[in-house]
Amino acid sequence: MKTIIEPFRIKSVEPIRMTTRAEREEKLRDTHYNLFGLRSEDVLIDLLTDSGTGAMSSQQWAAMMRGDESYAGSPSFERFKAAIQNLMPFEHIIPVHQGRAAEAILFSILGGKGRNIPNNTHFDTTRGNIEASGAMAHDLVIDEGRDPASLHPFKGNMDLAKLHEYMCEKGDSVPCVMTTITNNAGGGQPVSLENIQATAKIAHEFGKPFIIDGCRFAENAWFIKQREPGQADRSISDIVRDCFACADGMTMSAKKDGFANIGGWLALNDGDLADRARNRLIQTEGFPTYGGLAGRDLEAIAQGLTEIVDEEYLRYRIRTNEYIITKLDALGLPVVKPAGGHAVFIDARQWLSHIDPLGFPGQALACGLYKTGGIRSCEIGSVMFGRQPNGQEIPAAMELVRLAFPRRTYTQSHADYIIEVFGEIAEEKQSYRGFRIAWEADTMRHFSCRFEPLK
Ligand code: F0G
Repeated sequence: MKTIIEPFRIKSVEPIRMTTRAEREEKLRDTHYNLFGLRSEDVLIDLLTDSGTGAMSSQQWAAMMRGDESYAGSPSFERFKAAIQNLMPFEHIIPVHQGRAAEAILFSILGGKGRNIPNNTHFDTTRGNIEASGAMAHDLVIDEGRDPASLHPFKGNMDLAKLHEYMCEKGDSVPCVMTTITNNAGGGQPVSLENIQATAKIAHEFGKPFIIDGCRFAENAWFIKQREPGQADRSISDIVRDCFACADGMTMSAKKDGFANIGGWLALNDGDLADRARNRLIQTEGFPTYGGLAGRDLEAIAQGLTEIVDEEYLRYRIRTNEYIITKLDALGLPVVKPAGGHAVFIDARQWLSHIDPLGFPGQALACGLYKTGGIRSCEIGSVMFGRQPNGQEIPAAMELVRLAFPRRTYTQSHADYIIEVFGEIAEEKQSYRGFRIAWEADTMRHFSCRFEPLK
């Protein structure tokens, strides 16, 4: 059949509420045009993030009932650990309350002044944790990964030549090499298995551990199956195992491809590093058999990991993005192509080319989507990445707006509505103006900064 349907039926629903344009304009003023400040009740379709916002299955809710809440030695931890090791064969599995906690622990050990950490593209919390430790974070994605129009099948790939050169230059100061699958900040673009393995090889040549940020590992494996020669007949689980088999550790937010509302883990093979991480964990998160999570959360993740590798689910998941991108493309919108895994990305620098990059065209579009259709999206551009550690403002490589899709949450009519809203915006976008930042925090300013519209 040509129609790819949502491969589930709905057992429990949450109402969503339409507001008027006048109300939404008022909310924008009240929140200083920062969409993180909105109450979710005032949002019709919430595409701010795919993190922790998905719907759990009836099997996950059932598994939660058997959550064992013992402080130490809970069987829920054993099930959590076994489910992870079934896909990612690491020695030590350290639970944490979400991905950034894994990063904070890892870089409290591996970071520090004078150190340098390469990645295809660091996610903002990864960069934040590295920089907070005093180390520097560098992005070495291939050039195609910075070109929204390039149709390269693996735009998340590490530039191996650049990585090699980087290691020759800075190798002594590099505590680990990272790769993020999929490359969220670069458009949810996948990394090929070949590239993951080649990155590991370079890291190992220089005697450094290779760490994967695996937040969207299942979506990445789906793309490998679809696009990488020789992978089409393999199961998603086997592809996932190969991706992690060459790594020495991983950080994970189970709020993404763990199918859970909260949780994550740090996995390591090195026993000494793992001991240090567990000591830190006890200080900041909790005992190593729960790590800041309830036993029921561990159960939800263990069950979620068996569901996320389902091909019918992944086919529908990726198809949603392709569907929207095809329609937006037909409307003449500059969308990041090919479709990424968890989100649709619009190139706001091009679509709102009358707004200077340092006037934040992505933020102007994100506000427009809320004003016109009650849709909440997220700027991934100069608001997020423009300010340098030395305080200087440099336009980000791309000015993107991300529509991130919560897993198993919205349906095709929501997708059609989103497309219609873009059609409306196309009519009035020339009247859009940029913003200046009136107040910002010292780090990760996008969560809380206040904007003022430019005249
Ligand atoms: N790494 C990547 C690639 C991420 O996308 C995220 C979170 C994290 C690490 C941190 O995980 O949120 O559990 O602490 N991304 C969310 C997003 C917030 O909207 O893209 P966390």
